Amino acid sequence: MSLLIKNGRIITAVDDYHADIFIANETVTMIGENLSVSADKIVDAADRLVIPGGIDPHTHFDLPFGKEGIVSSDDFETGTRAAAYGGTTTIIDFATQTQGRSTMEALDIWHAKAAGKCAIDYGFHMIVTDMDDERLPELDRLLNEEGISSFKMFMAYPGVLYADDGTLFRVMRRAGELGGIVTMHAENGIAIDEIVKRAVLQGKKTPEWHALTRPTRLEAEAVHRSIALAETAGVPVYIVHLSCAEALQEVVTARDRGVRAFAETCPQYLFLDDSYYYQENFQGAKYVMTPVLREKWHQAELWRGLRMGDLQTTGTDHCPFFFEGQKTIGRDDFTRIPNGAPGVENRMSLFFNGGVAEGRISLNRFVEITSTAAAKLFGLFPKKGTIAVGSDADIVLWNPDRQETISLNNSVTHHMNVDYNAYEGQTVQGIAETVISRGKVIVEDCQYVGKAGDGQYLKRGLPIV
Ligand code: URP
Ligand code: ZN
Ligand code: ZN
Repeated sequence: MSLLIKNGRIITAVDDYHADIFIANETVTMIGENLSVSADKIVDAADRLVIPGGIDPHTHFDLPFGKEGIVSSDDFETGTRAAAYGGTTTIIDFATQTQGRSTMEALDIWHAKAAGKCAIDYGFHMIVTDMDDERLPELDRLLNEEGISSFKMFMAYPGVLYADDGTLFRVMRRAGELGGIVTMHAENGIAIDEIVKRAVLQGKKTPEWHALTRPTRLEAEAVHRSIALAETAGVPVYIVHLSCAEALQEVVTARDRGVRAFAETCPQYLFLDDSYYYQENFQGAKYVMTPVLREKWHQAELWRGLRMGDLQTTGTDHCPFFFEGQKTIGRDDFTRIPNGAPGVENRMSLFFNGGVAEGRISLNRFVEITSTAAAKLFGLFPKKGTIAVGSDADIVLWNPDRQETISLNNSVTHHMNVDYNAYEGQTVQGIAETVISRGKVIVEDCQYVGKAGDGQYLKRGLPIV
């Protein structure tokens, strides 16, 4: 199957030019002006931007969350299909080690969840919840044989996912020796639990108390500590879902010293704020996620970080739960509301609109923060994250002028398996109209034409840091 994309304006993290692209055997094989070559299918990209497919390095499909084990509502089929609609052609999800059990067992479980279901290519980070010395060789095997070069740990959620500093350090040291990278949920969960305990005892149980019990200082403290541990252990560290100015400042300070510290932010921290927790009729529960939405002024600082390169990537932390029946479990007590929100479908449009259309970042930077940087950090570049001869033909034809209002009821913007959209009512300029995954058109004129199982598991290499 061959495909010819004609008349497009190709944007990568570093290029901006007009050319045709010829794709054969799932890869880009020729790029040039007015290519004269026969192809099984021709796509006209006139007036469209031709960009690398998005890479979302942070999703949680089919995730049992918290002590009650409520499962996130998108599985690998619905979640990756929604991602494709939005212009994302690769996701990296999280296999999660059950405490006391092997990480290899976790990997088998996550492979079973994803196999044959995905619309787009996918990889896994490994969430490590405990790791004694005897188990450490599992990290070698994950990295060398299973294509998992990133290990995530939690400084939050004591008793569920939390790893103590000794565990953090053991994993960091071995991951560093192997050339891998550690990713961190950085919040001081031990202190937060004390604050939460007192609030609940005082009868403060409505959704806004989720936010009021998780101060920015305790995110910044954990970012500082995780960077200090990683620096000492000799491993690059990537802070996931960074939400606030104080935490960003810790990353900036470390990077200025030459430490290999990287960070991701998420659309929720740029396009939503803490006022959402005060919505009537328990609607604030829709925004119960961790870290929490912050005061609006943080957004300018995060944009500055994205523009100046202090924040390298954008992920969604897509972890949706139905409002009815899942979020409502915590109606009388915010601590029982499952943490997480949807977003995998809307990330590209939100960042194009807020970034490019509103003049905060360049087109090249848009590609970098939605695709290229994640490909480099997570061992997928240059197979993914760019448009070049030899790269996988993961390509989006992007309409930079089209406007849509994001809504549960808009068939262009919502295909996620969840009964609300966190960005309901926000109008965005910039829409993925045609999406190509390894040379196959899977979204055509905003209609999904792919099938479950098109996506393949990605064995990833070492980070380029
Ligand atoms: O609230 C969130 N973020 N839920 C997903 C799990 C995590 O902390 O990343
Ligand atoms: Zn997290
Ligand atoms: Zn997450």
